[in-house]
Amino acid sequence: MTPSPSMETEIGRKILAEHPGTTGSLGCAISEAVETATQNEGYRYVLGSVLNQVLLHQSIIGMETKIALDQYGIVPDMIIGCAGGGSNLGGLISPFMGEKLRGERDYQFITVEPASCPSLTRGVYAYDFCDTGMVCPLAKMYTLGSGFIPSPNHAGGLRYHGMSSILSQLYADGYMEARSVGQVEVFQAAEAFARVEGILPAPESSHAIKVAIDEAMKCKETGEEKTIVFGLTGTGYFDMMAYEKFHNGEMTDYIPTDEDLKQGIDGIPRFPGNME
Ligand SMILES: Cc1ncc(COP(=O)(O)O)c(C=O)c1O
Repeated sequence: MTPSPSMETEIGRKILAEHPGTTGSLGCAISEAVETATQNEGYRYVLGSVLNQVLLHQSIIGMETKIALDQYGIVPDMIIGCAGGGSNLGGLISPFMGEKLRGERDYQFITVEPASCPSLTRGVYAYDFCDTGMVCPLAKMYTLGSGFIPSPNHAGGLRYHGMSSILSQLYADGYMEARSVGQVEVFQAAEAFARVEGILPAPESSHAIKVAIDEAMKCKETGEEKTIVFGLTGTGYFDMMAYEKFHNGEMTDYIPTDEDLKQGIDGIPRFPGNME
């Protein structure tokens, strides 16, 4: 296994030269994968997040959730998911969002992203490259700029500079909310969840758990009863080092300054109707 960015691709070497010691991002890994696939006979690469076909595949999660809830006669009030490129959330909300768009039912949808990589909450809505090496086509999305590489703190698979075009459009049109959360509070929620449920959640999923707990606590205060659905997208067994860091009190939060974000946003392509 070779971690990205690597010295094995041209784009990996370029990224490492420009950002020495960086732990990379999904955008870097995509560029390296595309380069490897295009330069080796018999290889193909299919993006695993962000693009519409990935959301389509993941809609199975939403359909299963809806069928299960329907069988018990439960109608959720809110649906919460973590978002890196947006595919698990897009899939989870798809049948529910369909009902909302058709005016059949109303739901509250909440996207949760890391404060260290806040594409929806602090990005701009523009056409941008899906990858750091700028080889993929442009997509209209909320973006921090394809050159934005989040600080090396954990945030796992949510380290992506942009957001699925479908989710971006839904957010721009006001059908969905977005919140950004700090990593330390996310791990606190993850630990609480593990202690109560006996399931060690992935750090990515724990972003959704954090907001689900916040919302449940609000209900406790107001006395309201709400059914909250959230996406538990993976286990934390691959992330024991991050849990250890959290336990040893070594986990930190780095929230980018406006100045940090400006660099990435300044790199978004400019043409009439896009950033000008
Ligand atoms: C466990 C887990 N959940 C969520 C995500 C976020 O990806 P997406 O927003 O495309 O669903 C990732 C990405 O690597 C992940 O590993």
